[in-house]
Amino acid sequence: MSQTRKNILFGLSVAFLILLLLVAPESYGQKKENTPVSKITAKVDSLLTLMTLEEKIGQMNQYNGFWNATGPVPKNKNSAEKYRDLETGLVGSMLNVRGVAQVKAIQKIAVEKTRLGIPLLIGFDLIHGYKTISPIPLAESASWDLEAIEKSAALAALEASAAGINWTFAPMVDISRDPRWGRVMEGAGEDPYLGSRIAEARVIGFQGESLSDVHTIAACAKHFAGYSFAEAGKDYNTVDVGTSTLYNTIFPPFIAAKNAGVKTFMNAFNELNGIPSTGNSFLQRTLLKDRWGFEGFVVSDWLSITEMVSHGYAKNDKEAALKALLAGSDMDMESHAYRNHLAALVKEGKIEERLIDDAARRILRLKFELGLFEDPYKYCDVEREKAVIGTQQNNERVLDMAKKSIVLLKNKKKILPLDKEGLNIALIGVLAADKTSPLGNWCIAAEEQSAVSVMEGLEKYTKNKITYSPGVALDLDENKADTDRLGIQNAVQMAKGKDIVVLVLGEHGLHSGEDKSRATLDLPGRQQELLEAVYKVNQNIVLVLLNGRPLALNWAEKKIPAIVEAWHLGTQSGNAIAQVLYGDYNPSGKLPMTFPKSVGQIPIYYNYKNTGRAWSQKYTDESNDPLYVFGHGLSYTNFSYSALELTAPEFDSKGSIEVSFVIKNTGNYTGKEVAQLYLRDLVASVTRPVKELKGFELVSLQPGESKKVRFVIDSKTLEFYSARENWESEAGTFKVFVGGSSKTQLETEFLFNK
Ligand code: GLC
Repeated sequence: MSQTRKNILFGLSVAFLILLLLVAPESYGQKKENTPVSKITAKVDSLLTLMTLEEKIGQMNQYNGFWNATGPVPKNKNSAEKYRDLETGLVGSMLNVRGVAQVKAIQKIAVEKTRLGIPLLIGFDLIHGYKTISPIPLAESASWDLEAIEKSAALAALEASAAGINWTFAPMVDISRDPRWGRVMEGAGEDPYLGSRIAEARVIGFQGESLSDVHTIAACAKHFAGYSFAEAGKDYNTVDVGTSTLYNTIFPPFIAAKNAGVKTFMNAFNELNGIPSTGNSFLQRTLLKDRWGFEGFVVSDWLSITEMVSHGYAKNDKEAALKALLAGSDMDMESHAYRNHLAALVKEGKIEERLIDDAARRILRLKFELGLFEDPYKYCDVEREKAVIGTQQNNERVLDMAKKSIVLLKNKKKILPLDKEGLNIALIGVLAADKTSPLGNWCIAAEEQSAVSVMEGLEKYTKNKITYSPGVALDLDENKADTDRLGIQNAVQMAKGKDIVVLVLGEHGLHSGEDKSRATLDLPGRQQELLEAVYKVNQNIVLVLLNGRPLALNWAEKKIPAIVEAWHLGTQSGNAIAQVLYGDYNPSGKLPMTFPKSVGQIPIYYNYKNTGRAWSQKYTDESNDPLYVFGHGLSYTNFSYSALELTAPEFDSKGSIEVSFVIKNTGNYTGKEVAQLYLRDLVASVTRPVKELKGFELVSLQPGESKKVRFVIDSKTLEFYSARENWESEAGTFKVFVGGSSKTQLETEFLFNK
């Protein structure tokens, strides 16, 4: 096409676009959140008619920024090509571009240099905070505090949106039963009910009341689907699961996120039952878009489109692009397959253009909902960036979340809480002085060394005398055995005669996360040797764990009087731990994932099936029981459960019953208990777990105070994916269990007559 024709076309298009914006002043003048979907649909359709095939495909193309790569950077791709594509409207989104200056620079190219000026989506892995880092998601999930979790996501969105970001690749909602898989740190643990409630809280936290508000951003449910069931816990590995596990365990949090209004999904690297998720039409079109009615769009995971070649599902990148598009992957993250091949596939008649239109429409709709066409630079306010990020208030909010995420695993001899003065404390372990590991993995925008260390938290908090010794090195390369015995001897010498030893052990912040699968669950390096050596000279040990996954701590459970699970708690880690150790915050966390006794027990989880030989399904060399069960968590006080009652012994699908019981604080501290309700469907068209979490309530009680807790059970509570491949309840007898963990205290039963 001649340059003159191009200029005329450009002029006409811009004029038409201005006309488009003018003809509906009420919708533009009106506060965006009142813009009914029909108006946005009309705008999207109008814009689509202006776009060339290449420009529509451009919307489906996402490039990584030039500053961070969160995946393997493809060979021979360079910034110059990306800039050229940006300037010619062949890019719809960028990821890993952050900060007002960088985002504005990129946005200006899209808005002011391209023919139609369509703004970019700016995506980022906002997994647990932007600059002010909250606890890793697995830790937050241990709080069971949905309100706090929602606020934590909202805080992350507040800071990230001030840095130009308008889309996060979170929440990760993969249910996982295998702590060898490093990405358990990003999720909500092993239970589909808790995982679903937390997925909802995170979506609502990120997206808020209205996406057009400048402090809210679009969320993304990932990784769809089955990624966490990778064989042997090896990241990216093959996934082969049956219908019942898919529908009753894996899908519920995705359905919950969809129902909570999540605007995007991300697919997964893994194959699912022989077909890569990225090319899985049943997953993305039949299930997600057709049956579940999802109107947002699906972004691929990093390179997952072209990785279908190495999966052996596509013979080359062009066929990968074909299969991904036909399967319902709407946006291509960084593989360039869509940019390089889709136009040709349409022209060859292998893809109908309506499929391109559908994908582009879904993407454009989100840009309108975010208000980007109104003001493409709304997230690029440098004054807001300075005012909103890293404030004291934000730090107070992540401190609150961190305290609530801590789980007291053991407290024999009531060694905790510690006296605030008069104690001579030995503080041992490199993690005690580490100001980066507590931030955990997936904290790309955080400053190194920006966490409050355990040492800083303890020293600032009381007048106790604290002497520190690093003990052994903690090397990410676990094959690099630490030969530094001297560190152990120094620590042992220093521990002699002290009143208390606070040993901070666990994992480096990057020992868990993506591509961080481990074949053992022991304390990495020579930390176990350090622990046993110190124990020989001083048994008054408080073991504080900083880790991103359940660990197998058998020896410690047998010998150490106090064990505190402090995960990777983020920026305020040391302050949260100090407040718990000294009793100013009574720990209330409960494990969202089972801790095994040994890696050989995996997968081990509380909602297992009874099988035909429950009495004999065992190991000859290990018990069947885990080290700590799902829902386990102690307090500095004690709670009793009594008076479990049902309002009726039976009900049908038109009615309901109420379960009630009384919790009493029988100790000397005010405390918060997560009261848990479990059911068991004794006989059904598919076998059902021996227990399933169906409700929980956080109950705060003063010493001596009691409270009646109530849960309503109706037909919906009893639904599962049946042998008839329907979500339905079935008649029969159900057991009811209540307690402070999945090792419940009281039980009864009812009859459901359907
Ligand atoms: C990564 C992860 C995904 C993340 C994406 C962008 O490989 O699998 O969770 O959102 O790439 O960083």
